[in-house]
Amino acid sequence: MKTLLVANPKGGSGKTTLAVNLAAMLAQQGNNVRLLDLDRQQSAQSWLARRASQLPVVWPYHADTPSATRAGWLVIDSPAGVHGKMLARMLKLARYVLVPMGNSLFDLEASAAFVAALKAEKAVRKERVRLGVVGMRMAPRTWAAQQMEGFCVQHGLPVVASLQDTQAYVKAAFEGKGIVDLPVRQTLREREQWQTLMDWLSSDE
Ligand SMILES: Nc1ncnc2c1ncn2[C@@H]1O[C@H](COP(=O)(O)OP(=O)(O)OP(=O)(O)O)[C@@H](O)[C@H]1O
Ligand SMILES: [Mg+2]
Repeated sequence: MKTLLVANPKGGSGKTTLAVNLAAMLAQQGNNVRLLDLDRQQSAQSWLARRASQLPVVWPYHADTPSATRAGWLVIDSPAGVHGKMLARMLKLARYVLVPMGNSLFDLEASAAFVAALKAEKAVRKERVRLGVVGMRMAPRTWAAQQMEGFCVQHGLPVVASLQDTQAYVKAAFEGKGIVDLPVRQTLREREQWQTLMDWLSSDE
């Protein structure tokens, strides 16, 4: 099972949006996908409860899942404020860590501290974990995206995608969907912006 952790201690940075869209995207590609919600708010869990049975299946994760059915992906949504031992424990599980990053100065500053904490972790130092940043509510090639890219270059982090601010994400969430489950003609730009992220994931296979 390939495990992907979505983490950023900054509240509202886009963790759940990124996690559920990743799960939907991987399921749409025909993968066996499980979603683990470590947040007490249970937002990802509530998304899952809204998901219609006709859509590509995203399974809830249970620790007692038989190993025979564990092939595929595990996507983990994490809570705001995560640090210290809990961060270390979560990193032990993960092969990929995606950090959603908002577009404000305050988001970048808060993320800088998190990135420093991540880099101090053994799993990251030993490169057992692949780290990537995803710009959230940020159209590619805008001023905000450039600021974030500058920040990431400075910290030696790859920006694997920039996802613009659109109602498609909000609407999809209400329906237990990812943007990939919405009609193609309504989500052309969003899909295009996901391409680099999906390529980054598959480049490791
Ligand atoms: N690309 C986007 N376009 C439009 N809205 C977005 C986008 N990304 C995130 N949002 C919105 O931003 C808000 C915060 O996102 P989300 O709940 O995913 O953040 P979070 O990091 O999981 O928050 P928390 O720390 O509370 O768990 C939500 O209302 C979500 O719909
Ligand atoms: Mg959340």
